[in-house]
Amino acid sequence: MGKITNALKKAAEDRLQRIDKIAKIREDKQLIVHKAGDSKVDGRIVSYFDPKALITEQYKVLRTNFLALNKGRPPRTVVVTSSLHSEGKTITILNLAVSLAHSIHKPKILLIDADMRRGRVSKYLGVDQPKGLSELLSGKAALDEVLFHMDLENLTIMSSGSVPPNPAELLASDQMRALIAEVRGKFDFVLIDTPPIIAVTDAGIIGSMVEGVVMAIQAGRTQRGIVDRATELLNQAHVKIVGHVLTNIEYHLPEYIYRYL
Ligand SMILES: Nc1ncnc2c1ncn2[C@@H]1O[C@H](COP(=O)(O)OP(=O)(O)OP(=O)(O)O)[C@@H](O)[C@H]1O
Ligand SMILES: [Mg+2]
Repeated sequence: MGKITNALKKAAEDRLQRIDKIAKIREDKQLIVHKAGDSKVDGRIVSYFDPKALITEQYKVLRTNFLALNKGRPPRTVVVTSSLHSEGKTITILNLAVSLAHSIHKPKILLIDADMRRGRVSKYLGVDQPKGLSELLSGKAALDEVLFHMDLENLTIMSSGSVPPNPAELLASDQMRALIAEVRGKFDFVLIDTPPIIAVTDAGIIGSMVEGVVMAIQAGRTQRGIVDRATELLNQAHVKIVGHVLTNIEYHLPEYIYRYL
């Protein structure tokens, strides 16, 4: 694991300053965002609790490398997926979201739980948020009703909502496209959690609607052939894989994200 040099830190800060300026120029009307109430955040969202912890530092490295993608113009709409179940997607995206939210210029982050089959974002965050993406896409709730923020004012979340009978169809809908376009105009970064691509097509569907897909790979478990198959499926769906995060490295650290394209 390389150390973050001062130059890298400065470059990241410069980029964030630019993002901040962009945010200030926007004149969108503010969304109503509900407060999530007393939260019981899972200890694995370590960035939330302990900004100095060793693992938090690793998520900051992930953040720095993410912000450096595409020559410092990182994707503003991003899907995180993996090949198989339980590779650490949700823990990774939550820590990345918190870490981005803590950045010096406080970019506005929206984390959408698009794993409508077994979404766990609100569970990990310890919040009771029954209405979410599923209700929004099926016309049972409006955007303002499904956005919540944590104690961190610039971190907004949307839970997956109740399990619908047809998740893939809902995700492939015009409403999903319209949602991404709308929130892209209101937040600096939109991070979207999805189910594993080998199990179901969801990540390919949403992946094709966003600027980049990050793949989590659990070191020591997921075999190369499986990752190749997942990559093939994502390529067939015409998504742009922008990087990989290795989880389960020594001491359970997300080792790194590296440029892929
Ligand atoms: N960086 C990590 N290193 C090691 N283990 C991790 C890491 N992140 C998460 N885990 C562990 O892996 C398990 C699954 O985590 P998580 O729910 O984030 O996976 P997932 O890929 O989102 O799963 P699913 O496919 O069910 O959505 C949890 O027990 C978690 O503690
Ligand atoms: Mg998950």
